[in-house]
Amino acid sequence: GVALRLRRRQVSKFMDSTTLKRQAAELAADLVESGTVVGLGVGSTAIFAVRRLAERLRLGDLRDIVGVPCSLATAVEAERLGIPLTTLDERPLVDLTIDGADEVDPAFNLIKGGGGALLREKIVAQASRREIIVVDASKLSPALGTNFALPVEVTPFGAGAQVRYLEQLGAQVTVRRDQQGELYHTDQGNLVLDCAFGPIARPAQLADLLAARAGIVEHGLFIGLATDLIVANIDGLRITARPDLSLSSPGAW
Ligand code: A5P
Repeated sequence: GVALRLRRRQVSKFMDSTTLKRQAAELAADLVESGTVVGLGVGSTAIFAVRRLAERLRLGDLRDIVGVPCSLATAVEAERLGIPLTTLDERPLVDLTIDGADEVDPAFNLIKGGGGALLREKIVAQASRREIIVVDASKLSPALGTNFALPVEVTPFGAGAQVRYLEQLGAQVTVRRDQQGELYHTDQGNLVLDCAFGPIARPAQLADLLAARAGIVEHGLFIGLATDLIVANIDGLRITARPDLSLSSPGAW
């Protein structure tokens, strides 16, 4: 109603999306227990969780954690903050990972890779018992692809053939560039093709098609990997287990 809208507007003046992301990420970081292996995600939301973990370590509220960073940039920041790091070679099972996402559907399938770290993020997610995804409400979508182009990481060799293949699958493809206008390279030295599909009717099938193609190293569809979702909006924080892991039935947002 009118009253509610007014209240929202007043609140939102003081609660910008950065504040919301920070609150949600800090809630996730507060779920981490001492003595565990923690996956450290990438992006403007996940970095707040990294900072909160460092703060808890400093305060002595948390002990003996080791982090597995999902990108070189996250590794640098975590190291700077004094979070002990490890690798999946030393600790192949991650207890809990905290990461962001670019788009989330009602089944908690995700588009990730806006920050270019999709391959490492997916490796860490698949090695994690629990994958907590932290977003503000603007990331929620009825169908993946509606609001965000799907990032696809490809080897430089044959990249032109992948552009053609992805266009044949119905995407409008842009080769990602950095702010200087140079080709963007991932932590592995590959390229990223941002593929605007529009709403993707069957994301799991598209994921299979992309995974079967040589030269496509990884794609940003994360199907069935998120176990929990923390959504921040101006009314507060909501943490929910993935619908098929909990008793509630999947619905719409
Ligand atoms: C990084 O590759 C992405 O998957 C990020 O997790 C995603 O882009 C979310 O970033 P923000 O929290 O900055 O929106």
